[in-house]
Order: sequence, then structure tokens, then C-alpha cells
Amino acid sequence: MSEAARKFSGTNVLITGASKGIGGACARQFAHHGATMWLTDIDDAAGTELTAELGPNSQYRHVDVTLESDWDALMSEIEERGQPIDVLVNSAGAAIKAPLIKTSLVQFRTMLELNLVGTFLGIKSVAGQMSDGGSIINLASLRGVLATAELGAYGASKFGVRALTKVAALELADRGIRVNAVCPGSIDTGITASRDFADDDVEAYTQTIPMQRRGTPEEVAKVILFLAGDDSSYITGADLLVDGGTGAGARTPKKSTQKV
Ligand SMILES: NC(=O)c1ccc[n+]([C@@H]2O[C@H](COP(=O)([O-])OP(=O)(O)OC[C@H]3O[C@@H](n4cnc5c(N)ncnc54)[C@H](O)[C@@H]3O)[C@@H](O)[C@H]2O)c1
Repeated sequence: MSEAARKFSGTNVLITGASKGIGGACARQFAHHGATMWLTDIDDAAGTELTAELGPNSQYRHVDVTLESDWDALMSEIEERGQPIDVLVNSAGAAIKAPLIKTSLVQFRTMLELNLVGTFLGIKSVAGQMSDGGSIINLASLRGVLATAELGAYGASKFGVRALTKVAALELADRGIRVNAVCPGSIDTGITASRDFADDDVEAYTQTIPMQRRGTPEEVAKVILFLAGDDSSYITGADLLVDGGTGAGARTPKKSTQKV
């Protein structure tokens, strides 16, 4: 077995929103490092295809993270197998973009239900059966650290995910379970390609990122694997920004094209 394949060999990983984007990139990285995986999503076609690509150590289940009954069914199956989860990645999520006064109550509740309640149900359902010493990684967002106009519902849900992360870290520390949040900036996935973001000037936005480029799902997945494994053994309750420097502060605009 290669050194890479040994890193998470024997580790049982559960990923939500695993069919695509950041969750999908995590699935590929964990597979590369030898993990056994439960991939879950509501996009069954993409999830089944990815699972087939990753091989026999991965299995796909339909889990809508907002439905406690879906979580209960999955956790019963996992309990029957007698192989408790060691790592949970709560990646399922979506974004809507609208000024608060144009956000309908249904839209606002949908955001909270998916991003915040979905993460709560993930922690609540899995942590009770999790191996002591396990690790939970929640996908928050840079927009859950810096308030952003037109991302009120999304931002509220992601500020909430950071709060949940810290409370869970405090409550689970005596079992050695670590709980951390990753806060990506702008990452090139389906979420930012959706209709709500169609009018955004991506070029101009990219210029505001200190590193002058958007991130990739793989760059976020690598940080998630760091938080999942022993290399981060003394980190819990943290928010890790993966944002090309955007959250560090503002750059002073220059008159010319001079770089410094
Ligand atoms: N892409 C970014 O720029 C960015 C930035 C910050 C945070 N995030 C967060 O990262 C996470 C992953 O986003 P992504 O960029 O990979 O988006 P994505 O759209 O590529 O993937 C999201 C996945 O979640 C699944 N999903 C949606 N609703 C679900 C539900 N009810 N139950 C289960 N699965 C569901 C989708 O089918 C999809 O496979 C999200 O929580 C998102 O808010 C993304």
C-alpha cells in the first residue's frame, strides 16, 4: 500500500453534498488516501456515477440533509454494519442572492433549512454514534465571516454554521471529537454558476481577491483532509479561511497598474 493510501486507510468517512463541487473533491481526495466512504446527496445520478468511479470502498445513499428521516435511515444502516463514522464532512448547501427586501420568506427559510438546519441534523445524527477521537468539518463560508450585500439569507445561515461548529466543539471535546469550520471564498463550482450569480462581474470581483484568482474545489478539499486527520490534532472550534486572502482585509486601490 502506498504512503498516500495509508493515510486514511481504515477510516470511515461520511460526506454530504458529495455528488459535486467541494463535497465531490473531498470524496476523490479521501479515496486517494484509502478511506472507506458513505457519499450522500440528493443528486443521485451524479452521486452514483462518482461512486462507481471511486471503486468498492465507496457507497452512495440518497440523503436530503433537511430530512431527519433520511438521516435516521442512514444511521441505522451504518449502525447495523458496526463500523462507526470517524469523519463527517457537512458540505451540502446552496446559495441565493437577493437584497433582503426582495428575499421572500420562503427563500429565507429555505436557506436556513438547507445550510444551517442541514448541518445541525448532520452533527446531531452522526455525533452520537461517532468514534471517540473523530472529526467533523462543516462548510461555512467567507460570507459567514464578512457580511456581504445581497447575501443576507446565505450569510445568516453561514454565520450560524460557525456558531454551531464552536458549540459542538465545546460539547464533544471530552470525547476527543474535533469540530471545525472551513470558510471558502469564491470557489469555482456549480453554486457560483447558478442563475442568481449570472449578472456578477466575475473578472472585476477576481481583481478584489489578493491572490487575483478564484479557488478550486481541490484546494478546499485538501484543507478539509488536514482538519480530518492527525496533522490537526490540537485544532477544534476553529474557522479556517480558504479565500486567497480576501478575509485578511482590503487592498488600497491604485491609480496605475503598478503592483505594490
Ligand atoms: N463554491 C463556493 O464558492 C463556496 C464558497 C463558500 C462556501 N461554500 C459552501 O461549500 C458547500 C459546497 O458547495 P459547492 O460549491 O460544492 O456547491 P455545489 O452546488 O457544487 O455542491 C453542493 C451539493 O449539495 C447538494 N445538495 C443540495 N441540496 C441538498 C440537500 N437538501 N441534501 C443533500 N444534498 C444537497 C447538491 O446536489 C450538490 O451536489 C456549500 O455548503 C457551500 O455553501 C461554497
